[in-house]
Amino acid sequence: MKKHSSQHSETKAVRGATDLNRKNGPLSTPIYQTSTFEVTDNDEQLRTTGSDHFYTRYGNPTNTVAEKTVAALEGVDAALTFSSGMGAITTTLMALLKGGDHVVAQRDIYGGVNKFLSQWLPKMGIETTFVDTTEYEQHARAIRPNTKLLYLESPTNPTLRVVDFKKVAELAKQNKLISMIDSTFGTPINQRPAEFGIDLIMHSGTKYLGGHSDLICGVVAGRQELIDKIWETRTTLGNCMDPHASWALVRGMKTLAVRVVRQNENAQRVAVFLSEHAKVRRVHYPFLKSHPQYALAREQMKGGGGMVSFEVEGSGEDARRLSEAMRLFTLAPSLGGVESLVSIPVLTSHLTVPPEERRRIGITEQMIRLSVGIENADDLVADLEHALEAVSARQQVPVG
Ligand SMILES: Cc1ncc(COP(=O)(O)O)c(C=O)c1O
Repeated sequence: MKKHSSQHSETKAVRGATDLNRKNGPLSTPIYQTSTFEVTDNDEQLRTTGSDHFYTRYGNPTNTVAEKTVAALEGVDAALTFSSGMGAITTTLMALLKGGDHVVAQRDIYGGVNKFLSQWLPKMGIETTFVDTTEYEQHARAIRPNTKLLYLESPTNPTLRVVDFKKVAELAKQNKLISMIDSTFGTPINQRPAEFGIDLIMHSGTKYLGGHSDLICGVVAGRQELIDKIWETRTTLGNCMDPHASWALVRGMKTLAVRVVRQNENAQRVAVFLSEHAKVRRVHYPFLKSHPQYALAREQMKGGGGMVSFEVEGSGEDARRLSEAMRLFTLAPSLGGVESLVSIPVLTSHLTVPPEERRRIGITEQMIRLSVGIENADDLVADLEHALEAVSARQQVPVG
């Protein structure tokens, strides 16, 4: 029998959920655009309850293909799709936590998750202690008898810090906590946290998995027993993925490996260019030698990823002007698509995070975040060069 488990990620991305023994079926995944499924009798009705041939809020065959592909890529038992990345995170946390429980979370995480942990979970009696992302002693000290979950993100948005998977997985195991990581920036091509012992891997599928900025979705992958619990909650909360979006996700994932390799190369070029530019104060990129966790990043990641953040010399106003002077890098939130995008984190992903917390994390008004696409690297560098020149020419104009 042909198997997928020994195959490489490039193959799994294309063929992950394909039954290799099946013949004469459609090559492209069919879209089961249906809310419900017909049965011949009530015994069959009972047999199909909870399967992907019952009612689409519970499951759908197109969604199953997307879920099996992500599970294969992450090297875990199973995965679940959701209507958005935030849907995946909030549902998972609500499935695994109850009133009186406590969470330890990194300080630098996506702004929406920060808001959910600090403003929404307390309404249900669930508290969170935020700890400095790479200070593992702080993580350990924050654990209480009622701590249930360690919430992680790596590389972080937008600071691009890298978390030591081995250390956090060990800490979680010693304290019987569930470890959950947002691996959106990492992608299953560049890193596989489950190999280090992390329990749950989450992706905003909106980003690299979909890869074409044309859908919103989320995925959580992990051990069957955890996925079963999350499935129950997803079914109750109802934030399942639409089958049409699942089809787009499956199609996107077929090119995930080639896109990510190109994005790694392009981002590395862009990061090196920026690090040598006089108008740039600091560059954050895991595969730059100046990155504080460079050695760790090289050890646990195959590539540095497609995200680069940098701080421009000057003011927040200069950062705004620079982002508006770019032509090829399009001014838009989100990331992970084939087109290069630029955004300012204090105005987009971290707008709702209080300014003092942003300062503590290191998100400044001068910070610009780039999502590097698959265009030609020379063109991307030329665009940055032109925009940096335009801003420095303006800075030199005498006022008055
Ligand atoms: C790292 C990260 N995690 C989670 C999310 C939330 O995903 P979604 O927008 O699909 O709900 C985002 C969105 O930007 C993100 O950047």
